[in-house]
Amino acid sequence: MALTVLKGTVVSASAPGRLDVTEKGYLAAENGRITGVFSTLPEQYAGAAVEDWGDALILQAPADMHLHAPQYPMAGIGMDLPLLDWLNTYAFPTEADMADPDYARATYRQLARDLAATGTTRVCAFSSLHREATLILMEELERAGIAGCVGKVNMDRNGGPNLQETTEDSMAQTLQWLEECQSFRHVRPILTPRFTPSCTDALMAFLGKLAAERDLPVQSHLSENTSEVAWVAELHPDCKQYWETYAKYGLWTDRTLMAHCVWCDSRERQAMREAGVTAVHCGDSNQNLCSGVAPVRTLLDEGVKVALGTDVAGGASLSMFDATAAALRASKARRILDGWETPCLTVAEAWYLATSAGAVWFGDRPGFAPGNALHALVLDDSQLLRPHPLTAEERLERCLYRRQSGAIRAVWSGGRRIFSAR
Ligand code: GUN
Ligand code: FE
Repeated sequence: MALTVLKGTVVSASAPGRLDVTEKGYLAAENGRITGVFSTLPEQYAGAAVEDWGDALILQAPADMHLHAPQYPMAGIGMDLPLLDWLNTYAFPTEADMADPDYARATYRQLARDLAATGTTRVCAFSSLHREATLILMEELERAGIAGCVGKVNMDRNGGPNLQETTEDSMAQTLQWLEECQSFRHVRPILTPRFTPSCTDALMAFLGKLAAERDLPVQSHLSENTSEVAWVAELHPDCKQYWETYAKYGLWTDRTLMAHCVWCDSRERQAMREAGVTAVHCGDSNQNLCSGVAPVRTLLDEGVKVALGTDVAGGASLSMFDATAAALRASKARRILDGWETPCLTVAEAWYLATSAGAVWFGDRPGFAPGNALHALVLDDSQLLRPHPLTAEERLERCLYRRQSGAIRAVWSGGRRIFSAR
């Protein structure tokens, strides 16, 4: 039996808004599954090799529930345009490069390595429309120990000159990709209609049927930008609202992730809650592309499921620590815009969204619950000054607001150690 016992300041987001802290605590896992967090080492582990990290924080590893893998090379550049122009000018040409498998291999190998080093152990990633590059992305994530879901993107209209498939090709390539990706252990397929303007009705209907037949999850974009929302209304005069263009085809279920949800009104939010759709908030991207300020507090108060994503490369940083800080800042911008009516997110709430919310979507329980796969990281903040003795929550807050390159010392994904700092 493989046993892992980590000692340090163990912090977990066991419920929305709550942080469980065990100073000088032990986090134990057997065969990759957590058995518990203990303040004294249990009898059964007497004599076990304990990895003692001193005072360092032992945190849940976050899950990035929305990123665009082929856009990683352009992260941090081309931030001067709003969504639809940005897609045509920067994102689509960059994704078209993934037609070259060697380039895809090199890019995705680095992406997977960088994810592990920034402490992200689970993802829901968009690939590009290319079947071969999508398989390469899955291979490279699996090799690096990153778990989660990857989708071959479907887009049979309004693409770029080198980034569009026919409806028939999109369907056939998707079926072939689903056949070819069955051997992966930790990376699973997710159906990925890019967004309504990218997919004809025939393609949406095909994907909805496939999702139901094969019990597959779905990811897409919803109400990110006002021009996009207006375009969808033009394309679908039969639908009152954007979400109905997905619901109509069976793409609106409790296994559906919808990125952004910046402009969802109360009716659209109610439809999300009733179907159990998860909103993936990407605060950095929403600011970079001038999309707007998502009403995350309102979504949570109304009972909509929310998780966080980087949306790389709309988001500039691959780090979920940065994405969490972006969510905190966005909630403050929302507060200002709402005349101080809406409370901003707390650190504990934002960290729950970055970690447990994604874990729950993947089938785990919140926090370091016994039975969960071990997804954890060691964060050493000993290089930073302390103005007074800090609580674990203050230390976590500072790790979110301040970039600390090199602070992540070790990362475990599904029980396997996937990163160690030099
Ligand atoms: N909507 C459709 N495609 C995209 C994309 O690549 N990024 C973002 N942020 N929004 C999208
Ligand atoms: Fe996106």
